[in-house]
This record gives sequence, C-alpha cells and structure tokens, in this order.
Amino acid sequence: MSYPYQLKNFEDYQQAWQHSVTDPEGFWANVADHFYWRRKWDKVLEWDFKQPDVKWFTGAKLNITENCLDRHLGTLGHQPAIIWEPNDPDERHRILTYRELYTKVCQFANVLKNNGVKKGDRVCIYMGMIPELAIAVLACARIGAIHSVVFGGFSAQSIADRIQDAQATLVITCDGAFRGSKDIPLKSVIDDALMACPSVKKVIVCTRTRTPVSMLKGRDVWWEDEIKQVETMGNPPVPAEEMDAEDMLFILYTSGSTGKPKGVVHTCAGYMVYANYTFINTFQYKPGQVYFCTADIGWITGHSYIVYGPLSAGATTLMFEGVPTYPDAGRFWDIVDKFRVNVLYTAPTAIRSLMGFGLGPVNHKDLSSLTTLGTVGEPINEEAWHWYKDQIGKGHCPITDTWWQTETGGIMIAPIAGVTPEKPGYATLPLPGIQPVLVDENGKEIEGNGVNGNLCIKFPWPGMIRTTYGDHERCRTTYFATFENLYFTGDGCLRDEDGYYRITGRVDDVLNVSGHRIGTAEVENAINMHAGVVESAVVGYPHEIKGQGIYAFVISEMHVKDPDLTKKDIMQTVARIIGPIAKPDKIQFVSGLPKTRSGKIMRRILRKIAEGELDNLGDTSTLLDPAVVEEIKRGKL
Ligand code: WT7
Repeated sequence: MSYPYQLKNFEDYQQAWQHSVTDPEGFWANVADHFYWRRKWDKVLEWDFKQPDVKWFTGAKLNITENCLDRHLGTLGHQPAIIWEPNDPDERHRILTYRELYTKVCQFANVLKNNGVKKGDRVCIYMGMIPELAIAVLACARIGAIHSVVFGGFSAQSIADRIQDAQATLVITCDGAFRGSKDIPLKSVIDDALMACPSVKKVIVCTRTRTPVSMLKGRDVWWEDEIKQVETMGNPPVPAEEMDAEDMLFILYTSGSTGKPKGVVHTCAGYMVYANYTFINTFQYKPGQVYFCTADIGWITGHSYIVYGPLSAGATTLMFEGVPTYPDAGRFWDIVDKFRVNVLYTAPTAIRSLMGFGLGPVNHKDLSSLTTLGTVGEPINEEAWHWYKDQIGKGHCPITDTWWQTETGGIMIAPIAGVTPEKPGYATLPLPGIQPVLVDENGKEIEGNGVNGNLCIKFPWPGMIRTTYGDHERCRTTYFATFENLYFTGDGCLRDEDGYYRITGRVDDVLNVSGHRIGTAEVENAINMHAGVVESAVVGYPHEIKGQGIYAFVISEMHVKDPDLTKKDIMQTVARIIGPIAKPDKIQFVSGLPKTRSGKIMRRILRKIAEGELDNLGDTSTLLDPAVVEEIKRGKL
C-alpha cells in the first residue's frame, strides 16, 4: 500500500491545513478517493450544528471490512494483520495474516447470521483482548450489525444499562479473561446482567480461560461449535453488506456529567476515512512496520487504533491481552523486543507507573526497532514525557501526544510524528481538517496567542459523533448547545505564544482516572446505593500515577462504628455497580456538605479541599452552613 495523503514535511502540513480550511470538501474528497467504494458520494458534506445534522459522503455505498480486509488480499494476503501476545509470556503468541483474518471474519459473520443477526441489529461484545474480539467486531461490520463493545472491567449493572439502552439482541462474550494475575469470569457477569435484559435472545461464548460456566439452553451457544457448523456448511462466502455512508457502524458508551453514560454513535464512511487518515499521518506509519497500541478495544482508542485505522491501512497491528506490569514491569519492553515493534502508542498513566519501577526492567531490552512513540487519553506531565523520550525512545523517536475523544472518532490535535514540532505537555497543532477555537464563558471566540479558554471545534470533520443512541436531544444539549454553532469538547485549553495547544483538563464534572473517563454523578449514584449512605459528593484530585484520583465526601446514616470496614463496603458497592475502575481512592466521612441556600453542592470548595488548597477556598459566605467547611477541612485525608 502507498499512502498518497501522508504528509511528509512541515510545508506539506501547512499547505494541507490551509487547503482543508479554504476547500474542506475538496480536501476530504482527495483523501476519500483512496478507499474502496461500492458507489462514490454525491456530496462530500452537508451540515448544521444547530440540530445537529452532519452528513459526510452522502450517497456513497461501502463496507468498512472490504477496506480493512478484501482490498488487501491481493497484495498483503500473506502479511501479518494481527500479532497477538497473550497475558502469560509462556503461552504461544498468534499471528493472523490478512488472508486468515478475512477467512475468520467471514466464518464468524456466518455464525452471526445463523444466530439471526441482521443489518441494523445491535450486538453487545464483552470479551477480553483476544483476536476473536477483533474478529467479532469486524464480523458485525461485515453484515451491517451495529457493535457496542463494553470494556471487560465493567460490572453486570453497567453492561445491563448499556444493553437495555441499545436494545441489543445478541451478546458475544468469553468464558473468562486473563488480565495479569487475575481471571475475570466474563460469562458469569453476563449471566447476571442478562437477568434484566429481555431483548437479548442469544449469547455466543468463546473459550479462553476454561472457567466453568453455565450455558442456558436455547440462549447460549459456544463460539467453537458454531464455527464447526459453518465449516460443515462448507464456509459459504459472506459478501459484505452494502452500507450507506451514514448508516451506523457502532455505538460506544462513554461517561458525561450526568449519571447515565451515553451511546456515542459513529457512522460508516466518515469514521473509516478519519480513522485511517489520522492513523497514517499521526504515526507516519510505513508499510511493513509493526505497530503496537496498548489500549483495550473496549475504548475508542482500541476501535480506531487497534482495529479500524491500522487494518484499513494494511498495517500489522499488535494486540496484547495483558497488563504492563505482569509478570513484571518489563512486559511492554519485552514485547517491543520480541516483535521488533516500530510504533508504540500508550497512555501516560502506564508510563508513569512503569517509571516508578526504575530502569531495571528497561535495561538489556532491545528497543532499537522503535521509530515513533505516542501517548493518549490524558495530559502527560513533563517528567513522564522526558522519561519516555530518553529511556524508551533513546532520544531519537518523535513523541506524538494525541488529544481526542470518544466523540471525535480519531485524533484531532497532535504532533505529526517527526513532521510537525513537538513540545512536552502539549498536543501542539490541529491535524489538517480540524479547526479548533477557544471561547470564553459567553461563547465569544478568544483570538490571538497566549490565551486560555473552552476548547471547541468550529467545522465538521468526518469522524465526528452523529448522535447519542436513542436520544438525539441529549447529543444536542451536551455538545452543540453550550456555544452556538460550535462543537464543545468539555475541555479547557491553553494556546501558547507559539500557537500550540495544551489541554488543561475537563471543565465539566467528568474525571479522567488512568485515562478512563468517569462521571462524578455516576460514582455518587453508586455510592448512594450503599445502605448506610445518606448523601455523597465526588471530586477529582491530582494523583501521581492515575493523573486524577477519586475523592468521595460521604454522609453516613449512623455514626460510623468501623470506618475502615464501611469504606471497604462502599468501595465494593461502587465496584459492583460500575466496575473496579470507579472505586474511590479516598473516602472522607462528613456530617454535612457545603451547599448553597438553594441546595446545590458547591463542588468548587470540595475540589479545593481535595487538592489540598485549604487556605484558598474563595467566597464561602453564600453557604447555608459555613461551619461545615471547617469540619471538612479538619478531616481532610
Ligand atoms: C478526554 C476524552 C482519546 C481517546 C481516549 C480517551 C482527555 C484525551 C488527551 C491528551 C490531555 C487528553 C480529554 C478528553 N484527553 N487525550 N492527549 N491530553 N487530555 O477518550 O474517554 O473519550 O476521553 O480525555 O479530557 O476530553 P475519552
């Protein structure tokens, strides 16, 4: 494959960016020309941010899997598409060539059809990081079913909420998943979830851990048995379903400032073009390179930069089942060494945690294959940036700090590795096609450099969110109503004297814990489920490794007799309701919360206290009971 739209130098970048602003339709048509379309578009873009109503490549017909698989078979059929490294380093790795991946996707697409899945049906996928997860995702896309992948760390309750919201009819899961020293009983979690999900008619269970599971007659079937049946049928070919450009490709749930996660919807053509374009450019991927993104496919990073971006580019994508510290903190470096990885894309939280183990686990690992490094999901502090640059990249690999969101579908602001400048802690410049603006609280654009504001995007891009599943109004109010005619990201941002962007963090009630997005309201709802809890308020605070930690102020019913036990209990409750990732790091029992006379909790004060800024709480005179603040200050953890 060659990538005619891969930008090669800074002049290329500047020209492309200009072109994308003066003639966006021409710019994107040039990129889109390099895909396989059953039918080309009538119109590149129609948009209205008020509704919002955004359509890219209208009239075009395609199937994303023909772009990820079929079109590579002639040239790359024997090249590795997926390299899979298991959790246990003593287990054998697996390599799937493009031909093999194609065959497996078609087989599983047949399985889905045999189990009654049709175009437009929603399929929930709850699996560990094994190749079958990527196969399941692609098989859905092949037959036009809409996948909703739920991260393997979410609880039964969280899965049930997502299945109900999407009215999914089929679930694909595993008996269990290996993650580090843990063994997660996925099927048993699904069994609990499905008690509240009458829409689900079938469950397909893939064998991984051999954890004993119960199979419900008429509902549950084994992946392997179903494949055998397809083989018996002689592996009938599965022509890819012809999809309209704006047909839904997938739903991915993400947290916001309310208690209920929302289903971000991405559509076929725009998402495909954007995931591919950003992958090829940001990482400057060269054919034949080995690319390793350490994310989980349960998050958008895995969708765009393990599956769709790399495969549509004919790349070799490495999928890792385990965690960075198992069996020891050298695991990433062992993998880089073993497979001669060229491009490594990971999260600042992983870098910070590995940094803590010193250079022992890095020394004597051959990292000389690395050419490019990337980070994603949260701000990276300078110390971690330099460690990554010097100790991992040995000073010669560009680092791309990529800012984007579930809603944006792909990378938005980031250095193009080795092509545009980098600066520690900065996402730097927008990719061509992206028009960021900073606005004040009234929505007035803040021009010039050396300024701070709310980060918005003023023109559509192909990978953007189209709607929130089943509730378009929610999409409008969350993203398009705060500031007129702009997409609001929810992030605060600095544009420095050189015009480089630096994300300063969320300006809403959303936390970023180890790169995972968690709504404070969600955590509060979960804490309040505990029988002994009257009320709670959750805020974030700076955490050395996780970026942000979760600090919960809790009013408990009776005087807490054994505070440590009650804290453990509350943590358990949160893990059960949301998942272990949302467990508070600190719980402080209080007798009241700082509230305004109208009963609104003043989070600003709690945030300051959690951050340790006790002397700088600002005006507390409007509080109903100012004395409560003194008590909370005294009890700070
Ligand atoms: C939020 C989006 C992007 C895919 C993974 C997370 C924060 C993301 C960066 C970065 C500073 C970042 C933002 C954003 N964020 N990347 N490079 N620097 N902050 O996707 O779960 O949708 O979260 O993550 O706050 O809004 P997500």
